[in-house]
Amino acid sequence: MLKTMEKDREWVSSKINIGKELWYLTLDEVLATKLSEKDILNLTNNALIAHGKKDYEMPAKVGVHPFKEVFYHAMPAYVPSELACGMKWVECYPNNPSKFNLPQTTGLIVLNDILSGCPIAIMDGTWITAMRTPAVTVLAAGALHPDAETFGMFGCGVQGIEHCKFIVHTLKNLKKIYVNDINPETMDNLIKEVQPKIDVEIIKCEDPEEVAKKCEVLSSATIIIQETLSAVKYDWVSKGQTILPCDLNTFWDPVIPQKADKYIVDSIDEHEMFASMGYFPDGLPEITCETGEVLAGLKAGRESKDELIVCSNIGMSVCDVVVAREVLDRALENNIGRKLPL
Ligand SMILES: NC(=O)c1ccc[n+]([C@@H]2O[C@H](COP(=O)([O-])OP(=O)(O)OC[C@H]3O[C@@H](n4cnc5c(N)ncnc54)[C@H](O)[C@@H]3O)[C@@H](O)[C@H]2O)c1
Repeated sequence: MLKTMEKDREWVSSKINIGKELWYLTLDEVLATKLSEKDILNLTNNALIAHGKKDYEMPAKVGVHPFKEVFYHAMPAYVPSELACGMKWVECYPNNPSKFNLPQTTGLIVLNDILSGCPIAIMDGTWITAMRTPAVTVLAAGALHPDAETFGMFGCGVQGIEHCKFIVHTLKNLKKIYVNDINPETMDNLIKEVQPKIDVEIIKCEDPEEVAKKCEVLSSATIIIQETLSAVKYDWVSKGQTILPCDLNTFWDPVIPQKADKYIVDSIDEHEMFASMGYFPDGLPEITCETGEVLAGLKAGRESKDELIVCSNIGMSVCDVVVAREVLDRALENNIGRKLPL
């Protein structure tokens, strides 16, 4: 392992003077490294499997909260197998789109040289967050419900759009995607943006009950607040469905994860941490196992067609640093971005 790290350090040192310089990438420059959806899926899968095998270090997020409805999180992670070590500093301001015409979620990622600890890169983290999040959802969907023909997406913003693009990679039998949002314009916008890119029909649906009842696999990316919206009622879901929230406890009737046959989460530590902060006001449901353990084949996913499975993925920095590391390698290789003095 040390040899691999030394070789990697040599590679980075051929581009920057470690300890004296770092590589800086704007959002556009991150995009210019041209990671495809398949690249993001492969990298995220590697990160989740490393997490499942406990080949990582990732303390639960710590944060600051200037207002009740917002959070900033420091998300450090080290994934030895991917030579990825660093931290995402991310914020979630649910009112940003309406108040400032800015995204809910923005952030920066810092990467470090593992041997000396020196920072080697700073890059925008918005796009990486927007990509690795749907990658986690659809990898879990593929593992838990690979034969699904219907997918329902609640929330048609940044995440909803990317979820609809990514889902076709892992649910190969998909015939219909139903989308729902409290703001009808966002549904139209999602269809306009995604439909030309995928062969599966996307249907706008203003009634959340209809989406919940029609779809085998469901996901939500709406808002994260401590109170539960209970936007989908327990009566509307049924055995055999797979539900993949990105928005923690907020969107779904809290009875749904409590009564599910399995409640799988990306990180037990993260879910316990959020619960200790006042999220899950109705109590954290009993956790079956972690998403990475299912993807690594260490724990059972779906064991019968009748199981109702909820798989909550709140986001893990192991995924961010692994994707960011590949972005950095491509940027250094192709001279995208610039050196900054430390
Ligand atoms: N799990 C993760 O790793 C992760 C990563 C990034 C973002 N997120 C979360 O995903 C959520 C969405 O993020 P985004 O960047 O797509 O935000 P966004 O603002 O671009 O989109 C959110 C959409 O949800 C809609 N919405 C709000 N309440 C709704 C409701 N009750 N029913 C239907 N639609 C509703 C809004 O109208 C909006 O279109 C946020 O809660 C964010 O914190 C999670």
